[in-house]
Amino acid sequence: MKIRNALILCLGVSLSGLSFADSAELNQARELAKQFVGQLQPELGAAMKAGGPVNAIGVCQTKAPQIAQNLSAKSGWDLKRVSLKNRAATAKADNWEHQVLSRFDQQRAQGADPATLEYSEIVHEKGQKTFRYMKAIAIGQGQPCLHCHGTNINETVKQKLVELYPQDKATGYSEGQIRGAFSFKKVL
Ligand code: HEC
Repeated sequence: MKIRNALILCLGVSLSGLSFADSAELNQARELAKQFVGQLQPELGAAMKAGGPVNAIGVCQTKAPQIAQNLSAKSGWDLKRVSLKNRAATAKADNWEHQVLSRFDQQRAQGADPATLEYSEIVHEKGQKTFRYMKAIAIGQGQPCLHCHGTNINETVKQKLVELYPQDKATGYSEGQIRGAFSFKKVL
């Protein structure tokens, strides 16, 4: 147990994460994360091009949950995005997600590249063995994220965000920070 905890501290991965490194579930989760990004990013890019951030807010609001739902229905996994400072009410982190997100932030502070941060674990939830996976989502260089998540948000964008998300916590970020994470799970 001690060795296990030491490993978690040193490497930021659990033994289950390691021993299932090439498990079918981990590979599936990674593939789903790729598909999620692959579907969302072009939508966001196109919307930004077509009408700037004010227009693209609506796309984020409708397309992101739609993509998550479609991929969930297709794969049998439960897919979502979460954050310690969530915008969507559905993106509020549960206890397990909160711990993992905090650890991602620590790892980044210690110099880790956020693009490499992921974590998986088999947990018991509601009496069911469940595979859980998270992958950090960072604000990359040259990406449009800060128009809607940054410190210097355009007044019109700000107004629309307040209107749609009166409880919004997802602003004030800067480049390189971790905005949130993909969080996927599947009952085994
Ligand atoms: C045009 C405005 C806009 C841009 C640009 C944008 N976002 Fe968002 N983001 C949103 C909105 C709106 C939501 C809430 C979506 C919903 O209701 O499900 C959101 C939600 C999220 C979430 C889910 C967690 C939460 O807090 O709800 C993450 C993670 C996220 N954005 C990351 C990013 C990253 C990374 C980028 C840059 C690649 C980015 N966003 C660019 C508007 C934007």
